[in-house]
Amino acid sequence: MNSELDILMELIVKSSHIVALTGAGISTNSGIPDFRGPNGLYRGNNEFEKLFSIEYFREHPNFFYSNFNEMFHKIKNANPNKGHMFLKKLEDMGKLKVIITQNIDGLHKKAGNTNVIELHGNLEKFICISCYHLIENDTEQYKKAIDKMSNKDVPHCEKCNGILKPDVVFFGEYVHDLEKALTEVQKADLLLTIGTSLVVYPASTLPSYIDEKAKLVIINREPTPYDEKAKVVLYEDIDVIADKLKIL
Ligand code: OAD
Repeated sequence: MNSELDILMELIVKSSHIVALTGAGISTNSGIPDFRGPNGLYRGNNEFEKLFSIEYFREHPNFFYSNFNEMFHKIKNANPNKGHMFLKKLEDMGKLKVIITQNIDGLHKKAGNTNVIELHGNLEKFICISCYHLIENDTEQYKKAIDKMSNKDVPHCEKCNGILKPDVVFFGEYVHDLEKALTEVQKADLLLTIGTSLVVYPASTLPSYIDEKAKLVIINREPTPYDEKAKVVLYEDIDVIADKLKIL
């Protein structure tokens, strides 16, 4: 009988329109903690659930800035790992058409993937939560905001003195490009979900929109709510899978 890994390899060979849906677990091997894994940010620390809440941020921006600084620098200095390179290779082979990610770390683009939908945004900009002024990467204002954050201080908008927030999606805000992501999922003949607990709405609903002939594969160290619907489920580290598949 074929192992789950053999079946996955067979599916990759047969597929011509792969879509990947990724989460924080694909970046743990780059030194960025996930949220709900055994060493996740939210494990044993209920306080951290507030970290990405827009409602809480409006009232207590200093809580975010005093706790996010370390993670911000970790993310900025991180490099893609074997999991990211596995997806880059699938794109180079002409098989992977798009990555839909919940991650804000930009590592898929750093790995060289060209079509990446970042549902939760990225850290390339700040936005003023009062006047919505955008602060672009590498501008003087962006650097000033980083300096403030490095001092665990709250950066403010130069136009209206409102509070600046990294231009990423917090709980209570709309995700980016959801319709585009949905359309892409419906085009897939194989949806590969990697390193996501598949519990955070609306990204968590995407696997339910695949075409009836399409296959779902889940690579995640822990169970997810979609495991029973998947053709293949691998409770393994994505690095180990990438090694075993030998397509890198
Ligand atoms: P989670 O932390 O919920 O899930 C990550 C999953 O990856 C866990 O189930 C881990 O077991 C698994 N995992 C960790 N490292 C792995 C590895 N090397 N190989 C395979 N699996 C691994 O992260 P997400 O599903 O991305 O949103 O969380 C979704 C959203 O919740 C995040 O984007 C963030 C968070 O709150 C916002 O901040 C708005």
